[in-house]
Amino acid sequence: MARSTGNPRSKEVARGLEGVIESDSSITLLDGASNKLYYRGYDVTELARHSTFEDVAELLWTGELPTLSQRNNLLHRLASMRKCPPGLRTFLPQIPRDMAPLDALRTAMSALSPHDAPSPGTDGAAQREMAERLTSLAPTLITDLVRLGKGMAPLDPDPSLSHSEDFLRRLTGSIRSQEENRVFESVLVLHADHEMNTSTFAARVAASTSADMVSGVTSAIATLKGPLHGGAGEQVMEMVESIGKPEDADRFIRAKLERRERIMGFGHRVYRGEDPRATVLRELSRERAERTGDSRIHDILTEVERSVRKHRGLFPNVDLYSGSIYHSLGISRELHGSIFAAARMPGWTAHIMEEYADLRLICPQARYVGRPPRQLPEDRTGVVAGSR
Ligand code: ACO
Repeated sequence: MARSTGNPRSKEVARGLEGVIESDSSITLLDGASNKLYYRGYDVTELARHSTFEDVAELLWTGELPTLSQRNNLLHRLASMRKCPPGLRTFLPQIPRDMAPLDALRTAMSALSPHDAPSPGTDGAAQREMAERLTSLAPTLITDLVRLGKGMAPLDPDPSLSHSEDFLRRLTGSIRSQEENRVFESVLVLHADHEMNTSTFAARVAASTSADMVSGVTSAIATLKGPLHGGAGEQVMEMVESIGKPEDADRFIRAKLERRERIMGFGHRVYRGEDPRATVLRELSRERAERTGDSRIHDILTEVERSVRKHRGLFPNVDLYSGSIYHSLGISRELHGSIFAAARMPGWTAHIMEEYADLRLICPQARYVGRPPRQLPEDRTGVVAGSR
């Protein structure tokens, strides 16, 4: 492929890399013009209704939905990898209890040995096995850390349950109903990948240096944290608590917009209208509100949505309604980002493997706008390094 050798000063700056296409990818299509999202060609809203998390993981990793026996094999493999590795069992209690859950997950994840983690030279089977291990382990790390933080012993994984069922059991402390499990699994499916978003890009940047898969995933978790990305969901729930009741939503939003503050859970770099995941999540949030008989949060969010649409013309993104669903399942808002990370593990690892398969160092440039080259002042030229 021809390489550009032009003078970087003459190039236009693409702030936030907006509109820049860094690579080809055959994993996920984000069609911003028609507000659609497809994993390997399948509409994500269909997958959320009809597929298991294992189906979607296999789809993202291989390009095809599994047969029934492949699905069962993956279900058993993921279940068999859930136990916390012995080295981490002793490390997790040393992570400060007051660390935010996503920070603790990032710390724990980076403590997984990178020595046996695959990098580009490793064969595809080893890469795939590590992708499964990381996907299987993320819920264990999250739920063990939560319980340790509360001074409780971690719950052993239950290999008779599926990935999402056992994750929800360990998050909430009990096996949940079929309906609750189905809702939670749909949420995980909706978060499993999202083309070249910021955390996936971070994973791919690390992978492009030939770093191992653990490093790639750790970079992604660190990048997910910010409130402009995966941290928005927790802030949506904080906003809901500040609003208090639906009739106060419009006043709250107007005041925020007048102060030129951003409303979390709205807006997107690529979608021109509503994020298709938000459409499904709104519906699931409404269903949960009806089923539990507690619609306060859902009703506040509906009013927030109406107000933001009216005053700013912005549409909801994936982070607006997910917290309402987690709340209805008894999951605290601090875990929002960590659940997002666990759900995104198949996507991040699929992208890392795609990067490994066609490696090119991702190394952009900056347009220098600082001082022009100049001489050191005379009174500094006599100083010998280390003489102070
Ligand atoms: N609230 C208020 N104004 C907004 C919002 C918002 N949520 N989103 C965008 N805008 C405004 C900006 O203030 C800006 O206005 P201006 O031109 O008058 O200054 C304009 O829309 C364009 O905003 P940018 O930040 O340039 O657009 P960008 O494509 O970078 O924004 C982003 C995308 C970061 C998601 C933005 O919409 C935002 O901050 N949303 C709130 C945070 C959020 O919900 N993040 C989760 C996104 S989904 C995910 O990552 C999982």
